[in-house]
Amino acid sequence: MKLPRVVFVTGAASGIGRSVAMRLASEGCAVVVADTDVANGEATCASITSAGGSAICQEVDVRDRESIRSAADEATRRFGGITGLVNCAGLVTMTSLDDLTEEEWDLVVDVNLKGTWLATQEVARDIAATGGGSVVNISTVEAEVVVSSTGHCQVHYNASKGGVKMLTKALAVELAGASIRVNAVAPGPIATNFVSLEGITAPETLEKLKDRLLIPRIGEPEDIASAVSFLLSDQSSWITGVHLPVDGGWLTR
Ligand SMILES: NC(=O)c1ccc[n+]([C@@H]2O[C@H](COP(=O)([O-])OP(=O)(O)OC[C@H]3O[C@@H](n4cnc5c(N)ncnc54)[C@H](O)[C@@H]3O)[C@@H](O)[C@H]2O)c1
Repeated sequence: MKLPRVVFVTGAASGIGRSVAMRLASEGCAVVVADTDVANGEATCASITSAGGSAICQEVDVRDRESIRSAADEATRRFGGITGLVNCAGLVTMTSLDDLTEEEWDLVVDVNLKGTWLATQEVARDIAATGGGSVVNISTVEAEVVVSSTGHCQVHYNASKGGVKMLTKALAVELAGASIRVNAVAPGPIATNFVSLEGITAPETLEKLKDRLLIPRIGEPEDIASAVSFLLSDQSSWITGVHLPVDGGWLTR
């Protein structure tokens, strides 16, 4: 299996992004850990380099074009170009429709949707310059269905990730001519700090969710990392524009 040589991973300081970065590095990729959280980004890099891999940490806010550009330029200086991108940076606030403010709407939509567009617009130029490659966006099952496990849904989060699903298809069309494939992975519930690690791994949570899960466990970040690795690699060379659920069967019924 052949993977892109240099992969830019946003949100790689924590959770799914960190697991993706570690997995890709263990498979021989050089990784750009791009996150607002530099302390934890450096920790991801330290784990990669101490295992013999290659990584640099760059302070990137996906809402800020300049920070993306500067990190991409640094990656090109250090590794000679970029051949893959994983858009994993994301957040949610657990606010109901009634209480949702414009600031929260803007924050969640800007990081999850605008950030995915901005990072892809910038980094796709570098990928095109190396002759093509692959982009993977991290979406969610909540781009397809409303979950509302807390008793209310997060309309801003659903809207942002529904946007990521369609953005993935539009980018696949736009970037096909540059030999860049664009796909998305849509995780079900994964054990990370996204909302609360303690909450998602509590036995009551699995009890509440297990009707939806054909495979009755909470997902691990590594479940998502293996799908990302596949979609970045030449094993998926005839796949573009898909929104692949990795969800223990959540979306099946
Ligand atoms: N954990 C889940 O259950 C779950 C389910 C479906 C989808 N997802 C998606 O997976 C992605 C990763 O989530 P996670 O579970 O690993 O959460 P996480 O909180 O552990 O990681 C998110 C990372 O994104 C970074 N980030 C936030 N805003 C940023 C910005 N403006 N610029 C750059 N980096 C920024 C954070 O610093 C953090 O390192 C998100 O897009 C999320 O929507 C998570």
